[in-house]
Amino acid sequence: METAEIRRRWLKYFEDNDHVVVPSAPLIYDDPNLLFVNAGMVPMKPYMLGQQAAPWPRATSVQKCVRTGDIEEVGKTSRHGTFFQMNGNFSFGDYFKQRAVELAWGLVTTPIAEGGYGLDPERVWPTVYEDDDEAFALWHEHIGVPLERMTRRGKEDNYWHMGVPGPGGPCSELFYDRGAQYGADGGPAVDEDRYMEFWNLVFMQDDLSQVRSKADFDIAGSLPAKNIDTGMGLERMATLLQGKDNLYEIDEVFPVLAKAAEMTGKKYGEKSGQAAGQSHPDDVHLRVVADHVRSSLMLIGDGVTPGNEGRGYVLRRMLRRAVRAMRLLGYQDKALPELLPVSMERMKASYPELETDFARISQIAYGEEDAFRRTLGQGTIILDTAVTKAKQTAASTGGGPAQLAGEQAFQLHDTYGFPIDLTLEMAAEQGVQVDETGFRRLMKEQRDRAKADAKAKKAGHAHTEVWKSLRELGATDWLAYQGLSTDAKVLGIVIDGEQVPELQPGQTGQVVLDRTTFYAESGGQVADSGVIQGPHGNVLVRDVQRPVKGLVVHTVEATEHGLTVGDAVEATVDSEWRTSACQAHSGTHVVHAALRQVLGPSALQSGSYNKPGYLRLDFAWNSALSPETRSEIEEVANLAVRQDLPVAAQFMTLPEAREWGALALFGETYDEQVRVVEIGGPWSRELCGGTHVAHSSQIGALSLTGESSVGSGVRRVEAFVGMDALRYLAKERALVAELSGLVGAPAGELRSKVEDLLARVKDAERQIARLRQEQAQANAAGLVADAVDINGVRVLTHDAGELPADQVRSLVLSLRERLGDASGSVVAVTGVNGGRPVVVVATNQGARDRGVQAGALVKQAASVLGGGGGGKPDVAQGGGSDASKVGAALSAVADSVRGTVG
Ligand code: ALA
Repeated sequence: METAEIRRRWLKYFEDNDHVVVPSAPLIYDDPNLLFVNAGMVPMKPYMLGQQAAPWPRATSVQKCVRTGDIEEVGKTSRHGTFFQMNGNFSFGDYFKQRAVELAWGLVTTPIAEGGYGLDPERVWPTVYEDDDEAFALWHEHIGVPLERMTRRGKEDNYWHMGVPGPGGPCSELFYDRGAQYGADGGPAVDEDRYMEFWNLVFMQDDLSQVRSKADFDIAGSLPAKNIDTGMGLERMATLLQGKDNLYEIDEVFPVLAKAAEMTGKKYGEKSGQAAGQSHPDDVHLRVVADHVRSSLMLIGDGVTPGNEGRGYVLRRMLRRAVRAMRLLGYQDKALPELLPVSMERMKASYPELETDFARISQIAYGEEDAFRRTLGQGTIILDTAVTKAKQTAASTGGGPAQLAGEQAFQLHDTYGFPIDLTLEMAAEQGVQVDETGFRRLMKEQRDRAKADAKAKKAGHAHTEVWKSLRELGATDWLAYQGLSTDAKVLGIVIDGEQVPELQPGQTGQVVLDRTTFYAESGGQVADSGVIQGPHGNVLVRDVQRPVKGLVVHTVEATEHGLTVGDAVEATVDSEWRTSACQAHSGTHVVHAALRQVLGPSALQSGSYNKPGYLRLDFAWNSALSPETRSEIEEVANLAVRQDLPVAAQFMTLPEAREWGALALFGETYDEQVRVVEIGGPWSRELCGGTHVAHSSQIGALSLTGESSVGSGVRRVEAFVGMDALRYLAKERALVAELSGLVGAPAGELRSKVEDLLARVKDAERQIARLRQEQAQANAAGLVADAVDINGVRVLTHDAGELPADQVRSLVLSLRERLGDASGSVVAVTGVNGGRPVVVVATNQGARDRGVQAGALVKQAASVLGGGGGGKPDVAQGGGSDASKVGAALSAVADSVRGTVG
């Protein structure tokens, strides 16, 4: 049975059993503790914790998940995949253990012809939590599973939590016996390869306050209601139903593996006669490629872009590991353009947006492969140099084999993204060892630093308890779209993470109101600014955030007057601020639409930021925009402003919004009802919660100020908006006026005037140089008379002042000629150019016959100048940094000659 069909049957079965089908949330979820969604229940968490009323008593979903904790294990075992889909059914205080057990058993054992998965009931082995007699009885007595197939297990296996504080509970898992060829008899406790876990039923009933490890945690109390959270691994069920050995061989994954095998000429599974769990390295590489290509596709699809931190780093690592695995299989060309489309073709049945968005997705992936190829190129040069040095050192010290220092391996890894296994392998090819212990130590140090950072970051979230309890008073009535001002009541005040009864003059703290018109920072738009007027006077609003869903928190500064919980207040947004913020946010949409109109639909926004007067927008694109393209984008944007297009916002369901062609912003999680903001109807439609102008002409003006790269495959445009755009242009105009005053030409002729001036400056510089040289040559005749005789060698030293090196050199040569060949002669001249001294020395044959060498003399002189130099015995040149020492340098030359011939 195809994976898409397993998925379809799942949703239909639970829909038929009164569950509401909920679409998968994006992989990036707004939860400070999670890098990616890692279980089907993540989007359901607020309902389980009772933070929010569940919109439906029963729900079902097929949730995209990514787990990267075991990335090194991928391909080595049959169970580790980074991207997977979790089929879930959920009950929020509705049915509990009995119905959950019945539903699971029903779907699993109903014959295929009747819409089920048709697993052999005699081969299903349930496990339950050690003291969960109720679940045990349900499987054994109610369903009729014989005692010999039942197992009780401890917390390690049969208690589920998120790994972080939150909901948890005992669970019951279903395993399927794949047969004797997969391992030993005896059930899941004996062999989890033969008995494959495919479904976990969690009886969610506890609220955990501390989680130290899988089996070590504190239960703070009971959840407000008993819930059901189940997770069936879609890939695992596909493995079972498709009769495959492991999840890399199912229909959604295998075609990429097969393509990689074809490209590299490797035969997958050929050497799999080895002991269980012992895969051939080629097979492992092929599986890594298949897994990582699919995961990267899904991650980029949900808006992740490669980077050096957090989510971006996980993606970068996966893309690079995939490329690297291909190289280890002997494939040197660009691999992703061959592999990624294969994965997209397989995944689009369930995720059609992967196909429509493929231009953008592939551009990002291919850009990263190109960057990695360059990295490999650079890293290889550095590695080769280091290897050669290591060999030389080993040879010169005469002992032991050549070794590359741990720091070098670490630097290659850290700066050039050069994986250690690559360093090891390439060094070994040249007979050089690597200090791996040193490398691992440095890696560990870096990891420890990162961990400390993460801890510090988490501490920032330590206030969640406070926000949770304030949230329990009800959701903030949020009126940002309705107006600028509202009366309200102070529900809570927080200072340094503690609830307090009042905020006193001079203090800064957070204030929660029952309702507010303030926009809380989100979707790239900064928070509103304004005042909250209390019974005694105003406090200033400095920031507004939504730390938990539904709760708006104002950071305020009480300058002269305080505020007390229970106060009746008036919250008022600064209207000038809001107007400018609306201009900036609508401007962002206009620039986005203009970018896509000019560059094509793949120039999709990946991030944005806007505040009064300014906007910036990051978008998927691989090359710098030409000045013409920038002007065109600016023109299209300002034409849209000029056309006075109507701006409208309306709520609809996510599928409706998609149908409408609304662009979803990545990294946002959307509710049941989403808000679509359109400008000029279909010209610009985006899912957006921001505040906007009513007509595009109210944006005023847009002026692009910059365009730059912010990572591989991502560019950034910046613009000033509204009055700030005009101020920016006015400033430029003033600058032009000032310049034209300075050079004495009207603005229209400024360019040719400046070009003319530049040409004349260049000309003048050339003339000056020529004159200097002529002058120096003219002085030469006089200089010859200054030569002193040192024991039969004529020595002429001269400080030529400001003179560039090439002219010093020609002066030296002409002086040597003038001194003639009659006897030995030495000429040394210094010059200074751009503050740096140079020295040139020449000798004739007579001097050289007496042992006077230009090279040696220059070395002496240059060292006096604080530098170095050298050359042949007849002419040599050097330089230094201390121009005040030219006299001393020349004396050193004379002294040296005296030393040689005296
Ligand atoms: N939340 C449970 C799991 O992830 C179902 O296994």
